[in-house]
Amino acid sequence: MTDSFAKRLETTAQEVATLLEALLSNTVLDGEIARPEHLLAAMRHGVLNGGKRLRPFLVVETARLLGAAELPARRVAAALECIHCYSLIHDDLPSMDDDYLRRGQPTVHIAFDEASAILAGDALLTLAFDVLSSTETDLPAKAKLTLINQLARASGIGGMVGGQVLDLHAERVTPDEAGIVQLQAMKTGALLRYACAAGAIAAGADDQVVLRMTRFGEIIGLAFQLADDLLDVTSDAATLGKAAGKDVGRGKGTLVSLHGVASARQRLDQLVEEAALLLEPFGEEADTLRQAASFIASRER
Ligand code: IPE
Ligand code: IPE
Ligand code: MG
Ligand code: MG
Ligand code: MG
Repeated sequence: MTDSFAKRLETTAQEVATLLEALLSNTVLDGEIARPEHLLAAMRHGVLNGGKRLRPFLVVETARLLGAAELPARRVAAALECIHCYSLIHDDLPSMDDDYLRRGQPTVHIAFDEASAILAGDALLTLAFDVLSSTETDLPAKAKLTLINQLARASGIGGMVGGQVLDLHAERVTPDEAGIVQLQAMKTGALLRYACAAGAIAAGADDQVVLRMTRFGEIIGLAFQLADDLLDVTSDAATLGKAAGKDVGRGKGTLVSLHGVASARQRLDQLVEEAALLLEPFGEEADTLRQAASFIASRER
């Protein structure tokens, strides 16, 4: 990772965190009745806790590459991070992965209680759509509608939630390779794919460019979950800030359990190459996204 890439990642993470903090303030908005302090506290715990903010970074960098205004792109990025954080809060629940540690801190249901964690997740899900549809997100109405619709599809039945269902099922009946790839494309890939597509849509890019960036996001989405599965085997909780070694323990079918660590690493290299190929038409301007692809594959947490 180059210094300038690391700095860019850090700066975007801070900018998005500042916006998320504002979105989770006590100020009651037009159309709301009151903001319960306990709910806000649980939401803040699940959001303002030092995630890598990779999805927001991909939105912002794709948008920057294609010439979108900075502020609306940042709001799209924050909306997506709300969905991601909600997915993590629910993923950690006792009825799902039953985890105690997330981003180096107690999970929301441990720090608060299960009901608060469920409700904090619910409120983050709706907050995402509030942020996108709000007049403060200064984008053409058509682009906003597309962003809203695509986020719903990336998050719901045929995306993240659907993937989580398949993932839980996979603990009981191990899927074949195609099944694993599909469930991963849904549970994790869908939001990463959306990140890149959304950056392009926010920039008003033409259909072909949106398609190219969607494909780029799809590939790094696969790489992302493959790296996550590798880290689950090769790393530890202190480094990851979340439990390690759980997938084998739960009998979870992953490409790592199917083909081993070395083969997974090879596949990761292939995916990074494929992703880079898609960026060729953009030349050096796309260097940050190129580095993002290799960062996703070689990350240590
Ligand atoms: C973890 O995502 C959950 C998966 C989808 C594998 P990240 O590794 O992006 O988690 P944070 O946001 O940095 O904590
Ligand atoms: C989580 O996958 C995917 C979503 C939260 C949608 P994992 O269960 O592998 O994520 P970690 O390892 O708990 O972060
Ligand atoms: Mg899970
Ligand atoms: Mg989990
Ligand atoms: Mg995992």
